[in-house]
Amino acid sequence: MSKLSRIDPLVGITDKLKRPVRDLRISVTDRCNFRCTYCMPEEIFGERYEFLPRPEILTFEEIERVARIFAVAGVSKLRITGGEPLVRANLTDLIQRLSSIDGISDIALTTNGYLLPKFAEGLKKSGLSRLTVSLDSIDENIFKKMSGRPHGPKNTLDGIRLATELDFSSIKVNVVVQRGVNDHTLIDTARYFKGTGVIVRFIEFMDVGTKNHWDLSQVVPSSEVMEVIDSEFGLESVAPNYEGEVANRYRYKDGDGEIGVISSVTKPFCGNCTRARLSTDGKLVTCLFASGGTDLKSALRSGQSDKEISSIITNIWSNRVDQYSALRSNQTNFEAYTKGDKVEMYYIGG
Ligand code: GTP
Ligand code: 5AD
Ligand code: SF4
Ligand code: SF4
Repeated sequence: MSKLSRIDPLVGITDKLKRPVRDLRISVTDRCNFRCTYCMPEEIFGERYEFLPRPEILTFEEIERVARIFAVAGVSKLRITGGEPLVRANLTDLIQRLSSIDGISDIALTTNGYLLPKFAEGLKKSGLSRLTVSLDSIDENIFKKMSGRPHGPKNTLDGIRLATELDFSSIKVNVVVQRGVNDHTLIDTARYFKGTGVIVRFIEFMDVGTKNHWDLSQVVPSSEVMEVIDSEFGLESVAPNYEGEVANRYRYKDGDGEIGVISSVTKPFCGNCTRARLSTDGKLVTCLFASGGTDLKSALRSGQSDKEISSIITNIWSNRVDQYSALRSNQTNFEAYTKGDKVEMYYIGG
């Protein structure tokens, strides 16, 4: 049980831009069974690549402890990410632990879906609320090309279908849009899920990390994606589900559900960013584009109390000034700005 109380220093804390902490995104592994070209390209992440050794990775007990401390501070949403979280052994045990934490009302998982046919039912039973599946195209060849794997989307699609029968409170599909790569398949992907209750979100390709050869010419602005889908099916905009929602929502005029667009490059949303990230090896990272994080693992492993750890987090959050995407969009030399040192996405999740 946490020794923290509601008078803990973290309660009510805001950062230098007056943003509270509301979500904690937890990366449970830096490994993945895919090699998406924009995240873990095969030429870098080949057989000889050394992932984090096991002792460096937070245990479930440690993750639960950090989540409890954040819950006291007002975090009610957790997102489990990776790498690919379903390659971590016994992940359902972690979900079960997290879902029993007081104050945590929403636990979501971001997965590539390959292992969903095996785990969807167990995840639901363990208390997972929502599922987000990364799937860049339903086209067999484009899927293979982007995922860096020789198999097509069948397992992922089977996993999504199975999940739709399990009563998750939402199932979303994330499509990273890259010009000249999958932008000609967006309508087909939207059509595949139209009317199924699954919400497809089209994401602007971002300059995260340092290994994905990002350049601005590969970004398809969400406004363009919206026009393409609108002219095919007819869309109208919908109000956000909650303040600070990352996606802009649109519904099909014929009532067949909704889509979303995430405009992290053309319309940054740093002003409402209430997301803290916990890396696989226990670093607290305050921005997707940070160059590093603050080590919490040493504190967890050196006998420090919950209160002491809470003070470390309070100190980090209250001094937070991150707004990378917003500042990037103000640059005249946009491309040069994106070349700095940044943590990799497979290590802190999306
Ligand atoms: P819910 O609204 O809770 O479903 O979550 P979400 O919209 O935050 O969705 P999700 O976590 O699936 O994020 C979708 C994508 O948005 C990620 O894969 C990123 O590409 C992008 N994204 C999410 N959070 C951030 C963020 O803090 N900064 C930036 N720049 N992009 C983000
Ligand atoms: N730009 C936008 N989204 C990305 N993701 C991974 N790399 C990028 C990028 N460069 C997305 C994945 C997944 C989530 C974890 O982040 O597609 O949905
Ligand atoms: Fe794996 Fe997701 Fe990265 Fe693709 S984007 S390599 S599925 S962690
Ligand atoms: Fe938050 Fe950083 Fe993303 Fe801005 S760029 S929304 S501060 S994670």
